[in-house]
Amino acid sequence: MTIRFLLDDAVVEIADAAPTATLLDHLRYRLRRTGTKEGCAEGDCGACTVLVGEPVGEGIAWRAVNACILFLPMIDGKAVLTVESLSRDGAPTLLQSCMARNGSSQCGFCTPGFVMSLYGRAVGASGHMLPVADVLAGNLCRCTGYGPILSAAQEVSRIDRDDRRLATALADLRAAAAPEEKSWFAPRSADELAALLVERPDARLIAGATDVGLWVTKGLRDIDTPVFIGDVPELRVIEEDATGITLGAAVRYADAHEALTRLHPDLGELVRRIGGLQVRNAGTIGGNIANGSPIGDGPPALIALGASLILRRGDQRRTLALEDYFLGYGRQDRTPGEFIERIHIPRPAPDAIVHMAKLSRRFDSDISAVCGAFALTLRDDIIAEARVAFGGMAATPRRASACEAALSGAPFSEATIARAVAALREDFDPLSDVRGSAAYRHEAAGNLLWRLWHREQGEPVSVLETL
Ligand code: FAD
Ligand code: FES
Ligand code: FES
Repeated sequence: MTIRFLLDDAVVEIADAAPTATLLDHLRYRLRRTGTKEGCAEGDCGACTVLVGEPVGEGIAWRAVNACILFLPMIDGKAVLTVESLSRDGAPTLLQSCMARNGSSQCGFCTPGFVMSLYGRAVGASGHMLPVADVLAGNLCRCTGYGPILSAAQEVSRIDRDDRRLATALADLRAAAAPEEKSWFAPRSADELAALLVERPDARLIAGATDVGLWVTKGLRDIDTPVFIGDVPELRVIEEDATGITLGAAVRYADAHEALTRLHPDLGELVRRIGGLQVRNAGTIGGNIANGSPIGDGPPALIALGASLILRRGDQRRTLALEDYFLGYGRQDRTPGEFIERIHIPRPAPDAIVHMAKLSRRFDSDISAVCGAFALTLRDDIIAEARVAFGGMAATPRRASACEAALSGAPFSEATIARAVAALREDFDPLSDVRGSAAYRHEAAGNLLWRLWHREQGEPVSVLETL
């Protein structure tokens, strides 16, 4: 199979690409772009950060991603910038000069990744409005030289690129006919995807590859018949109306962040803490649900809000409450050939009490030990409806029915919260693992509900709120 992408302004054509070869390996070992480093090969450290661009209007929308878990076919028809792209005329860019002047490089190994993340912030579609700390949360400096890096970052704001010529070249590249025989697939419409999966029900869907990428780089697994869904336009649509938000299953976190924040600020904050920006620029909400992880952050929040899935097989569609999708550890209600097409998230009533938060060992870029989400509907100070869901407490993300029963029909009072916290013991029998002991998880889950109570009393409930 042949893959073609733009590196700077030159077309790179790879005639023999293995479907799960990573962009990082190709850059380093074939193209000798060795400025892009391999630190962890699992999306954690950011040493491999590059920018990937897609055409938008007359320009290009750039996003910083981790090249170590990006498969080559995923950049077919896209544009790529590496740290070498920034100084092709031999002179460092303003950003690189600022890094040098501030002494922002110590070992230097992580520096290209920091430069590319900051460059992505300055030129990018999803990074430039974000605080520097958010943009750099996915870049690790092991010698803890963050101060000088942050100082350099403050000196650089927006960088305007004229990408019109590049956008034309990219459009020409994308218009070229796709090869016919393939060991991987990248359908260009939802109908094409649906038909393909009926024909090949065992195919492996790949959206952002922030989970699947690790199966290959860390699990050394082969992926049979990969189907990349990131180029299916219908799966990238975000629709907002009075009833809520409907997301195509391949909408990336970074693209959905603003809409989800409008739905509820806690949901936006939860998404902000998923991985680093490079992970949010690739990972999708559909992938987070489909993988069925008991510690994914999306499902508890969306279950509490009453989200539903639209699953599609061929021309048949069915709607399923998200909570019913998770059948057991590693088992989901999805038949062969079926895929998640859309996710609908209802808008909470303006007076609903909604709270969602994750607890992880590290604030940024870390998987939850416990993630709790609560949506309470009050009528005359009585809790008319309670939806409570947790991740990290059972083999699947799920609702806490005893806790909900203790809340429903009761006055919104400290005594009710105390009863509901106690009821959580009936709901869950969590595991002890590296992220937390069973005792910690019980205590933490209850404390998240107490946090809702204290926040409603107007008290600061997190360290960040007291800073
Ligand atoms: P992929 O890896 O592409 O796919 C995941 C699974 O979903 C595969 O089985 C795939 O076949 C299936 N799939 C994808 N789309 C569909 C579809 N439409 N229909 C049916 N099946 C589908 N997760 C968190 O919840 N919180 C975190 O803080 C977090 N931090 C992370 C940090 C790092 C460094 C990394 C690498 C990952 C992290 N993750 C985290 C996990 C991951 O980013 C998320 O689960 C992400 O949402 C997966 O989406 P994806 O598009 O990358 O899925
Ligand atoms: Fe660490 Fe890619 S090498 S994120
Ligand atoms: Fe590279 Fe700190 S400068 S780890």
